[in-house]
Amino acid sequence: MRHLSLIAGLVLIAGAVQAQQLDWWQTGVIYQIYPRSYKDSNGDGIGDINGIISKLDYIASLGVAAIWLSPIYKSPMADFGYDISDFRDIDPLFGTLDDFKLLVAEAKSRNLGIIMDMVPNHSSDEHEWFVKSEQKIEPYTDYYFWQPAKGFDPNGAPIPPNNWLSVFGGSAWAWSELRQEFYLHQFHAKQPDFNYRNPAIVQELKDILTFWYDLGVYGFRWDAVTHMFEDPALPDEPVSGNPVDPNDYNYLKHIYTQNLPETPYTLSLYKAHTDEYSLNAGDGLHRVMMLEVWNPIEEVMQYYRNVSDFPFNFRFLTTMGAYSNGRDAENAIRGWVDNIPDNGWPNWVVRKTGF
Ligand SMILES: *[C@@H]1O[C@H](CO)[C@@H](O)[C@H](O)[C@H]1NC(C)=O
Repeated sequence: MRHLSLIAGLVLIAGAVQAQQLDWWQTGVIYQIYPRSYKDSNGDGIGDINGIISKLDYIASLGVAAIWLSPIYKSPMADFGYDISDFRDIDPLFGTLDDFKLLVAEAKSRNLGIIMDMVPNHSSDEHEWFVKSEQKIEPYTDYYFWQPAKGFDPNGAPIPPNNWLSVFGGSAWAWSELRQEFYLHQFHAKQPDFNYRNPAIVQELKDILTFWYDLGVYGFRWDAVTHMFEDPALPDEPVSGNPVDPNDYNYLKHIYTQNLPETPYTLSLYKAHTDEYSLNAGDGLHRVMMLEVWNPIEEVMQYYRNVSDFPFNFRFLTTMGAYSNGRDAENAIRGWVDNIPDNGWPNWVVRKTGF
């Protein structure tokens, strides 16, 4: 999910579109930067925005169209910035919002776009919304996925609503002493899941997109979107049969917590919002929406159409290795272009160090 660079649209291979005018995101290379390790400007040993600015001439010289930044939002860093405590600010580790504005301007003057990471599935437990939700302060009460205990064990300890497991291991439910309810966290306990069935959350995220589009970003890469919805009936998930510890995420089959049909629909609302923004901006800039989806190919393809500009094509990473040959490359390419829906645009995720 991290340390990848992305090439969008190998036109010669796809051959899907001939003379028609192609847009920047269809022909350009999108270059991922993991800011923490990229370039340190102030000697604290951690990469930062000013470090990235100092490398823009180099990046432009690579022929890159846009830079995608892994998360730099304000965060307690329980999960390397994927636990966001303010979606409208930069973490001081990386700089300030003014540094970010300078980055956008300096990039633009070199014909480079800046793409932000969107982490839609949860916030930090230190986000103001969660702090208020835990106290049932409106309108935040139902911003997160709260559930009462299923009961209490003989020692008085609350029993979680079901057997769901966190990707990081152990129960996906954490007890709030304050609210006397469990909240769901599919990842770290410091990453409470949003309740996407609450339209207020959908609107909040639209407003966040608008905030960054207003600052000049060229789009978003959406993290781990398949975890956005859970089955509201909260059924236990079946055992997978994988020979792992019962606390390990892979112990269960995630049929009620991943890839629910509501996910593409909700994403399509953000796509519509993004397209509408681009249209109203009247600047001819297509703001891109690209998704991280690690799934079987038929499922991945459902994230094209009105859901995004493209879900990442990880096939070069997942189907090829050090000893792959030309035939393997052909298979990796065909596996994507033969399945792509009409009007879908291909993309190829590659590592800088080779396949
Ligand atoms: C996207 O397409 C699906 C399937 O056709 C449709 O149900 C949904 O309403 C569309 N989304 C938007 C925002 O129009």
